Parts: sequence; C-alpha cells; structure tokens
Amino acid sequence: MSSPLGVTVTQHLLSQQEKQKGATGAFTRMLNELILSAKIINREVTKAGLVEILGFTGERNVQGERVRKLDEFAHDVICRRMAQSRYICVMGSEEDADPIEMPDGVEKGEYVLLFDPLDGSSNIDANVSIGTIFSILRKQSGGVDYQMSDLLQPGYSQVAAGYFLYGSSTMMVYTTGNGVSGFTLDPSVGEFLLSHPNIKIPERGKIFSVNAGYWDYWHEPTKQYIDFLRKPSEDKPVYSLRYIGSLVSDFHRTLLYGGVFLYPADTKDPKKPHGKLRLLYEANPLSFVCEQAGGASSTGNRRVMELEPEHLHQRVPLIIGSKHEVELAEKFYRGEM
Ligand code: AHG
Ligand code: MN
Ligand code: MN
Repeated sequence: MSSPLGVTVTQHLLSQQEKQKGATGAFTRMLNELILSAKIINREVTKAGLVEILGFTGERNVQGERVRKLDEFAHDVICRRMAQSRYICVMGSEEDADPIEMPDGVEKGEYVLLFDPLDGSSNIDANVSIGTIFSILRKQSGGVDYQMSDLLQPGYSQVAAGYFLYGSSTMMVYTTGNGVSGFTLDPSVGEFLLSHPNIKIPERGKIFSVNAGYWDYWHEPTKQYIDFLRKPSEDKPVYSLRYIGSLVSDFHRTLLYGGVFLYPADTKDPKKPHGKLRLLYEANPLSFVCEQAGGASSTGNRRVMELEPEHLHQRVPLIIGSKHEVELAEKFYRGEM
C-alpha cells in the first residue's frame, strides 16, 4: 500500500526501512542529513536572487560574509553535513577534482555519496530552476578506507538516487529501487511532503529536449533522429522542442510529461567528445530514477547504467526519457532507421 499524500519524506523513508529486513536505520539517517543540506541550499538559492535584485556587489552579503558561488556553497554544505553523519566513507563531487575523504577522527560508514551540488547554476541569475543531484552506493572494498573502485561502480549498483529541484516549488524526487516518489517542500513547516507517489513516465511523449544550437556539431545519427522527430507524419504526434538548459529541470519535465532529453556526443569541444554531462553524478542517478519510473536511458549505443566507469568526472552521451523515444534513438544509432 503506497504512503498517503502529505506524509513526510522521513515517514516515507521509515516505512521503506521497515520493509528492509535487518535495516539498522543508517540509510534513513544518512539521507536525512542530505535532505537537511538541501533545505539549507534552497534557502540560499532563494536569497541569492534577492542579493542580485538589491544590487549588492555580490562579494559580501548583508552579514558581511563572503558570498561564495552557489556551487561552492552547496558543495560545502553537503560535504560538512555528510561528513558528520558518520555513514559515509568517501564522496565524489562535481566541484572537487579528487575523492573527498572523511576528516580525521570522523567515523567512516558504509555508503559512498556522489553528487552534483548545484546543477544548472549558470541559470541562477535568470531565476531559472536549478537542482542538486545525488547517487548513493554501498562501499564494496574491505577495510575501513575506501578504494577508487568504491566510487567507480556501474549505475546498476546504486542503492538510491534522486534530485532536489529548487524551482517555483522545491521538490525532492528519489528512488531506492522500489519505484519513484516525489515530495514538495512546504516552507511553512520546513517539511518535504509526499505529492507525487509512484511516479511513472508516459510510455511515449510529444516533447524532445536538446540544445539545437549545436546542430552543426552533432554526429549524423543524432541529426537524423532529431530530423525524424520534428518532421510531421501521420503515425506520430507533432513534437515540441523544450530546452531549459538546467538538466534537473529538463529531466523532471521529461519524467512527468514524457518524451526525451538528449545531451549527445558532439564535435564542439575536442576535449569533450562524449558531450558535457558526467556519468557518476548526473547520468547514472537520473537513469536510475528514469528506469524505476518505467523509462529508459542510453548513450545511443548502450544502457547508461551498464557502463563501467573509468574516472570520477567521466562524461557520457545521455538520451533519457520515455521508452518509445529512447529505443527509437537507439535504432538511429544502430543504423536501422
Ligand atoms: P552544471 O551546472 O552542474 O555544470 O550542469 C550544467 C549542465 C546541465 O545542467 C545542462 O543540461 C547543461 O549543462 C546545459 O549545457 P548547454 O548550455 O551546453 O546546453
Ligand atoms: Mn550538472
Ligand atoms: Mn553542478
């Protein structure tokens, strides 16, 4: 029986925990620390807009504190809170080139956290929704200290994944492998309340989401696929193009409305032949959520969650959304269309 609307995310986590034989509560307490971090980030994200409007220099805020870039702020909040949670053995963040070890003296736990502290941050000045993406793995190596292999696990090893979306309302969407649930923050009580139980992505949609400005840098299969989607024909709906430029927002709309989001491989930057998005803390967590909601996620040639990661900030082409549109894309990449 799914939880009733309005139940808090903590109650939801506890009800999931009760179903896990031998659960110690460590996962629930660890995720609660992440949720608190998101509430703190949400507060700052909102205020940052205010600072902009009031025309402060942006170098110092009203309390005279140094206003750091929101990415760094979000990164620091998560690092600090998760380190003190005692359930993490190592973290990987978009904002740190290296794995983040626990401070000396802090008890290390069995979980690995990979995260994009602030996704879409180039949009904050335009007041466009941004988010935090997280992926949780279980430590596999023996001993207390981590190995690089603990971070470089394929997406199907994730024990949980999801995102926070700081938008017109602030939401949390997550999965632990038993479906996808969405919660909306009620700022008056500071709680995430269940608003989207058991999210299922439509089998097919009418929206494709890609930065069409890069058309000339795309490989042929991408051009043929997008050309096919946009061409009117009897046996398919007319597709709209929607692109916010904030992955969490573009993905969230795709999850709820259906269709497909792509950030394909391109020739724009020889240093980034596989596109811009990172496997470990953008593609894998959103792929877990999407598959759990009945969708699919591919590089065009392979299921994203089967890739064996080679390094922390590895980039990967991402085609994610409704099964119909993703499987169609794969046909173009296999040369079958
Ligand atoms: P981040 O802010 O974490 O670096 O991520 C930005 C990403 C992602 O949010 C979005 O899908 C993509 O950048 C947009 O890239 P383009 O501007 O190249 O389309
Ligand atoms: Mn990002
Ligand atoms: Mn980011």
